[in-house]
Amino acid sequence: MSNAEITKYFNATEFRDIRDDLVFAVENISEPKIAIDCGCGAGADINYLASNNFVVYGFDLEEESISRCKARFKNIDNVFLSKSSFNSFSYPKASLVAADASLFFCPSSEFPGVWEKIYGCLYPGGVFCGSFLGPEDTMASPGYNPSVFWPEVAVFEEAEVRKLFENYETLRFNVHRTTGTTLLGTPHDWHIFSVVAQKPNTAVKGDAGKAPRDLP
Ligand SMILES: C[S@@+](CC[C@H](N)C(=O)[O-])C[C@H]1O[C@@H](n2cnc3c(N)ncnc32)[C@H](O)[C@@H]1O
Repeated sequence: MSNAEITKYFNATEFRDIRDDLVFAVENISEPKIAIDCGCGAGADINYLASNNFVVYGFDLEEESISRCKARFKNIDNVFLSKSSFNSFSYPKASLVAADASLFFCPSSEFPGVWEKIYGCLYPGGVFCGSFLGPEDTMASPGYNPSVFWPEVAVFEEAEVRKLFENYETLRFNVHRTTGTTLLGTPHDWHIFSVVAQKPNTAVKGDAGKAPRDLP
């Protein structure tokens, strides 16, 4: 995305509605209320989590995301922000990891390690709430110009997404297929898997979430 498009995207999403999956995830969290928002964008989910008394660690690759969120949450002392990628972020222990429309842009080569870090940072009983890009999404199409969004996309078949959660208890799994126009005004077919899943309370020490070996 160009800087102008990023600004437009963040302007359009700063006060967006909170997705029902995140509300549901929050209802399933017990103490301590510590959340990580991966690829936090303009901070819509951080705002929701902080106002529900979570300590929130938000990170994003884009400087604009972090500078906007720093200004937005400057008077809130339970929000911590860092300019970081999925791979370079130091994941604190957390009871909730939120990754809405962001893991789409984790480079495939980095995804297995990132996925293990996410599993590893969750307390037993902690919840992951996020979404994955399916092969029929416009962004996954051959010929799609990736410079329109963030440079790389990680695409998953449904079976691969389900396999990612073999060490979790899946609380919700939904497939979204819709056609419409993006916030930037371009036609788009969406194919997205949204998942809410809980790390078992009985998780064995050192037990890591495994990613499929043959990610696209
Ligand atoms: C579609 S936006 C979603 C933003 C936010 N989660 C929301 O739902 O409003 C994707 C976000 O992922 C961030 N992003 C892209 N690649 C990233 C990476 N490698 N590491 C961390 N964040 C990344 C982008 O800067 C952007 O803020």
